[in-house]
Amino acid sequence: KRVVVLVSGSGTNLQALLDAIAARGPEEYGARIVAVGADRHSATGLDRARAAGLPTFVCRVNDYGSRAEWDAALTGATAAHRPDLVVSAGFMKIVGREFLARFGGRIVNTHPALLPSFPGAHGVRDALAYGAKITGCTVHFVDDGVDTGPIIAQSAVEVVEEDTEEGEAALHERIKDVERRLLVDVVGRLARHGYRIEGRKVMLPDEQ
Ligand code: GRF
Repeated sequence: KRVVVLVSGSGTNLQALLDAIAARGPEEYGARIVAVGADRHSATGLDRARAAGLPTFVCRVNDYGSRAEWDAALTGATAAHRPDLVVSAGFMKIVGREFLARFGGRIVNTHPALLPSFPGAHGVRDALAYGAKITGCTVHFVDDGVDTGPIIAQSAVEVVEEDTEEGEAALHERIKDVERRLLVDVVGRLARHGYRIEGRKVMLPDEQ
């Protein structure tokens, strides 16, 4: 399976996928990353892609006259790599109608909270501020909402005392440790076994 990964930031989820595929081989893992896209040139995930010899593309919202034009450009740039699956890993933009029309049902996102709790761009901060005792991460399919698509898998992470003092960075790092493993597991299983989405349910065979 061909995978395009979209990033905005450090790209450690991307790196986890690259490392897993390098370790197991694309055939056994079931997928290879064919390109990495970003919404900003500063995304260090792009450096990780280049270090892996992968093609990259950048679609900045401000380079286009409208959101719809940006969405069309992102769709075209992604489609050029003929992905079977698109993985949004820390991609901080909401994809539009054209992107969803083209790749809907094949876009996976990872979010650092237990959806439907704490959706949006500050899930870690919001869980901490709310006083949640357990948070975690969610891998889900992207639909036309914000972090509202069918859930594929989740992992829990306990909020501990020092998180409250140290703030969200420590908690987010602990979540990311779990999140990277969850994303690598899910992407591989989706690629190897295929899946069906029935309403909000994702039918994904367990590893035989
Ligand atoms: C991840 O926790 C992702 O869920 C959130 O931002 C973080 C991105 O981390 N949206 P990285 O860029 O993969 O290191």
